[in-house]
Amino acid sequence: SDAFRGKRLNLQHKLLDFTSLKELPDLYTWTEPDEYPAGQSLASESVPVIDLDGPTAVNVNLIGHACKTWGVFQVINHGIPTALLHNAMCTSRSLFTLPNEQKLKVARSPDAFEGYGFARISSFFSKLMWYEGFTNVGSPLDHFCQLWPQDYNMHCNVVEEYKKEMKKLAERLMCLILRSLGTTREDIKWAGLNGDFKDHPSPLNFNYYPACPDPDRAMGLAAHTDSSLFTILCQNSVSGLQVLREGTGWVTVPPVSDALVVNVGDMLHILSNGLYPSVLHRAVATRKNRLSIAYFYGLPSDLQISPLENLVGPSQPPLYRSISWSEYLRMKAKHFNKALSFVRV
Ligand code: SIN
Ligand code: FE2
Repeated sequence: SDAFRGKRLNLQHKLLDFTSLKELPDLYTWTEPDEYPAGQSLASESVPVIDLDGPTAVNVNLIGHACKTWGVFQVINHGIPTALLHNAMCTSRSLFTLPNEQKLKVARSPDAFEGYGFARISSFFSKLMWYEGFTNVGSPLDHFCQLWPQDYNMHCNVVEEYKKEMKKLAERLMCLILRSLGTTREDIKWAGLNGDFKDHPSPLNFNYYPACPDPDRAMGLAAHTDSSLFTILCQNSVSGLQVLREGTGWVTVPPVSDALVVNVGDMLHILSNGLYPSVLHRAVATRKNRLSIAYFYGLPSDLQISPLENLVGPSQPPLYRSISWSEYLRMKAKHFNKALSFVRV
C-alpha cells in the first residue's frame, strides 16, 4: 500500500543502526509460517561440489545433473585468484561498515536498480529483512567516489577486476551448461558469429546480513529465484544460504573455502525448456555478520530468448514463449516468484 511504501521510504533515510539493537523491532519480525513444503532431511544429501580442473566431459555431466536435480552447485579450482575473492570481500565489508550517512549518499532511489538500500524484493513483503545491499551495474566510479572520497580508486580496481574474472568464469560455465544441454554456443544465434557471447549486462550485488540478536524470528533475504541465466555467488565463512530441495525442504549451501556457488536462474529455466529449473533460495539471519557477493549473468537486454531448438520437437513442445531479459525483468518486478508462469505458452 501507499502508506507502507511511505514508511519504507522514510526508513530508507534513517536506516537502523543494526549494531546497536538488542531486540528485533516489530518491522523486522517474521512470524508468518513458512509457505514452502518441509520434507524429510536426508543427511547424506549435500549440494554438489565440482572441481573445474577435472576432465571436461565429466564436468559437463556433473553440471548437467546438478542443474537438473539441485539447481545449484559449488565450483572449486575455478581459476579466480583467492586474493581477488578476498579483496572483493574486504571492499564489501568496508562499504557496509561506513557510517550510515555516508552510505545514504548512494541510496537507491525508488524504482532504481543501482545503489545502496533494502533488499530489492522488499516491496513484496510487509516486513523488512535483516539485510543491507548495494547493487552496481556499470562502472562503480560514481558511487565509489562518494563512498570513499580518498581511496575509491583501490576499491574500483578491485570491483572492475572482480567483474572481469566473473565474466570469464561465467562464459566458461555457460559453455559447459550448453554442452550438457546438447548444444554449443556456436549453434545458438545469440552467441554471435564467432562464438563469442555478445555483451551480457551482469549486475553485481553486494549483500550484508548484520549479526542478528534473534535470528529465528528474522529473515535475511526471503525466498526467491534469480532472473539471471545463472548467478555466481561468493560467500564468506558464515553459512546462511539455503536452497529449496524437492522432498527434502531447505538445504544449507555450506561455505567451502575458496568455492563459488552457482545457481540456476529464470532465463536458463526458459532456455532449457524447464529442464534446469531455477532454484528457490533464501538467506536466513544469523548471529554473525554474513557477507556475500552475487554476480548475475544476464543477457543482452533486448535479445529474444526461447527454449533451445534441440530441446523442442513434436514430442516435447516449447513450454515457454520467447521473451527478452528486459521484458522478463519487468514481469519479475510485477509478479515476483510467479513471473515464470506468465511466460508459459
Ligand atoms: C542472493 O540470493 O542474492 C543472495 C544469497 C546469499 O546471500 O547467500
Ligand atoms: Fe538470489
